[in-house]
Amino acid sequence: MAQCCINPSILSADFVNLEAELRRIGGADAVHVDVMDNHFVPNLTIGLPVVARIQKVSPVPLDAHLMIADPDRWAPAYAEAGVASVTFHAEAAAAPVRLARELRARGAKAGMALKPATAIEPYLDLLPEMDMLLIMTVEPGFGGQAFLDVTLPKIRRAADAVAGSGLPVAIQVDGGITEETIGRAAEAGATVFVAGSAVYGTEDPNEAIARLRAAAAR
Ligand code: DX5
Ligand code: ZN
Repeated sequence: MAQCCINPSILSADFVNLEAELRRIGGADAVHVDVMDNHFVPNLTIGLPVVARIQKVSPVPLDAHLMIADPDRWAPAYAEAGVASVTFHAEAAAAPVRLARELRARGAKAGMALKPATAIEPYLDLLPEMDMLLIMTVEPGFGGQAFLDVTLPKIRRAADAVAGSGLPVAIQVDGGITEETIGRAAEAGATVFVAGSAVYGTEDPNEAIARLRAAAAR
């Protein structure tokens, strides 16, 4: 699958002015919404009520990244709220295939995320059940961390497996994506790029999105 998407993460946006912040990224393909529960990761953000409101006002589709324990219980409600793409962590899901099917049955794309130390190989047989694999390129929990180059071989193995399968599974990368690192992730086979600080940490988020897009294609 060709590269397509720059998904800014609102983790780096101004949480008091979320609606205005969403309007600043009209050039994005989707908005990445990080849900953290202070159990699966050592940080706490927002939950379903806030995400459901964001879904109502956002000019671009929502890409929810659930960094939560027990996604089997909580994730389907995000799909029901109209979130276009719902990603749960492989490390946290008890029954990833059943969960992915529940997400798809509710009209969402199903994504599965892997932390940097989680191997991709045990999950490759599940590709037909997924719309997206999220290869974390930092340890999940916080924005503004440095891209981990050790994740590049895994991105490549995931992309090779997807290409070999012929399935339309997107490969998302998340964490430390900048104009400097995005080319390496794209070259390894990533197709969807999450960027928090590299978009919202700048004066003009839409210009930052355009620069990232150009750097990914280089
Ligand atoms: C980190 C989150 C990321 C975060 C990325 O756990 O999943 O989505 O917002 O932020 P940057 O792009 O600043 O690394
Ligand atoms: Zn994320």
